[in-house]
Amino acid sequence: MAPNTTERTYIMVKPDGVDRGLVGEILSRFEKRGFKLIAAKLALPSKEHLEEHYADLKERPFFPGLIRYMLGGPVFCMVFEGLDAVKTGRAMLGATNPLASAPGTIRGDFALATGRNICHGSDSVENAEKEIALWFPEGTLQYKLSQAAVIYE
Ligand code: TYD
Repeated sequence: MAPNTTERTYIMVKPDGVDRGLVGEILSRFEKRGFKLIAAKLALPSKEHLEEHYADLKERPFFPGLIRYMLGGPVFCMVFEGLDAVKTGRAMLGATNPLASAPGTIRGDFALATGRNICHGSDSVENAEKEIALWFPEGTLQYKLSQAAVIYE
């Protein structure tokens, strides 16, 4: 069976990452890895929008602080497409707690605190599709990358 090279994941630079000038660095890592950028924008989400994004966590004690932090400034929203995009995206981000993230991962290279971990990445294909629909109701782009032939077997 041909590999699924159209799996999609939602990657977001959080307000601290935008404030620290890490948008280009994070986007660049996904581009260089071979993932295809199919949507991107800077956004200032509402409290309700963020509460929906993090709905699974609403009973957790850190939830109010998480929403406050996410409301602190713009976020940079991206959708990347490619082989195993969700799992590989999570590996590139590192662990939720940056101190447990290996050097070489985004959090392992740029963050120290769980509550300031600079980026988000979908944790399952199902959640990726939900998050893409929430953040990009306008949809994502379809186009051909000329380098696809040298990235995949
Ligand atoms: P979670 O979905 O568990 O982690 P991830 O972002 O790696 O998928 O949690 C969402 C965010 O909530 C996490 O990135 C940072 C914040 N958070 C805290 O502030 N404290 C915590 O103890 C946890 C587990 C998460």
